[in-house]
Formats: sequence, structure tokens, C-alpha cells
Amino acid sequence: MSPLEAALAGLWLMLPALVPNSAAVLFGGGTPMDLGRSWRGKRILGDGKTWRGFFGGALTGFGVGSFQIIITTMLDEQDAFGYGDLPWAVAIIAALSFGAMTGDCVGSFIKRRLGVDRGRKAPGLDQYNFVLGAIVTVIIVSPGWFSGHYIEGNGYWGLAMFLVVVPLLHRSANIIGYKLGKKNVPW
Ligand code: CTP
Ligand code: MG
Repeated sequence: MSPLEAALAGLWLMLPALVPNSAAVLFGGGTPMDLGRSWRGKRILGDGKTWRGFFGGALTGFGVGSFQIIITTMLDEQDAFGYGDLPWAVAIIAALSFGAMTGDCVGSFIKRRLGVDRGRKAPGLDQYNFVLGAIVTVIIVSPGWFSGHYIEGNGYWGLAMFLVVVPLLHRSANIIGYKLGKKNVPW
């Protein structure tokens, strides 16, 4: 694969992890995941992490991944642009989508411990918490798949690609969330 192809494949394959965070903004609301509870005087996660947002986001990512599995299977491109064979492919998209939303919760947990209030900026953490959550989870589920696509060959171009794209995506989704009245601040 050329660096360009590897970068495109890397972005495409990471979609189930990139979509959930943006989708969560649209689904968010209702019961907070920490049920309003605090730990050492600060909320465990805060009102920005709700069950609806978690499952709405993760299942949207999973749905996108399922659609990608169908497309790449029809085009016979499971190796380079797919998640490999079933049932592993399903485990990988589940790891990416649910791992992303879990990483997002870990990010909020850390923010609360550092005394950063819900919705306040934590540069770096806000943009990369979900990518890190997805990467760590998928490495646990299938290290071979991760290294095959993101390290070996020109795979690291894929990694580099979404380090650039992710903050842009995150920012646009939050501006949309702000305009829709789902968020109080546009970041
Ligand atoms: N959201 C949600 N449930 C989640 C994740 C996100 O309901 N598990 C929704 C919330 O409406 C949240 C919005 O998506 O306000 C944006 O998410 P994010 O920026 O991650 O949350 P913040 O409100 O900024 O809170 P935090 O400071 O904890 O990151
Ligand atoms: Mg935020």
C-alpha cells in the first residue's frame, strides 16, 4: 500500500471510533451515568456523560461499522479496507465503538479529578480520549489487526492521519451540538 492508500484505509477503518463521540452529542440527555453521585467532593463523571449518549454514540459507531463490513465484503476488500473475516470483524467494530465511548468516560473521570468542571476545556484530553479508548480496546481484542493496519507497512500514515483529522471533527461536531442547543459551549 502507498502512504496515501494506507492513510485513507486508516481513516476509513477508524470510523466506528470517530462517529460515536459526535453522535453522543445528538443523543445526549436523561439519566447521567454516575446517577448524580460524587466521589471526594467532585462528580464521578458529571452531567455530560449520560446513558443515552453512551449507547446512542456507541451503537451509531457499531452501525457504521456493520455497514462498512457489508460494503467491503461485497467489494471483496476485507483485507485492506475491511475488518477481516466474521465473527472477528464484528468484535473489532464493537471494540472500536464501545471503546471510544469508554475512553470518553475515562476522560471525564480524569477531568473531574483534576477539578475541571463539566463542559470546561481540557485541551488534548477532550480531543483524544475517545481515540485512545478505541485504540487500547482494539489492541486488547485484536493486536494483530491493529498492527497490521496501523503499524506495519505504511500503516502509521493512518495513525498520523486521524491525529490531524480528529480534533477538526470533534470541533465541528461540538459547534453543531452548540447550535442545536445540546451543548452550552461550542467546544
Ligand atoms: N454526551 C452524553 N453522554 C456521553 C457523552 C456525551 O450525553 N456518554 C453528550 C452530552 O450532552 C455532552 C455532549 O455529548 O455535553 C458533549 O460531550 P463531551 O464534550 O464529551 O461532554 P462535556 O459536556 O464537555 O463534559 P466533560 O467535561 O465531562 O467532557
Ligand atoms: Mg466537552
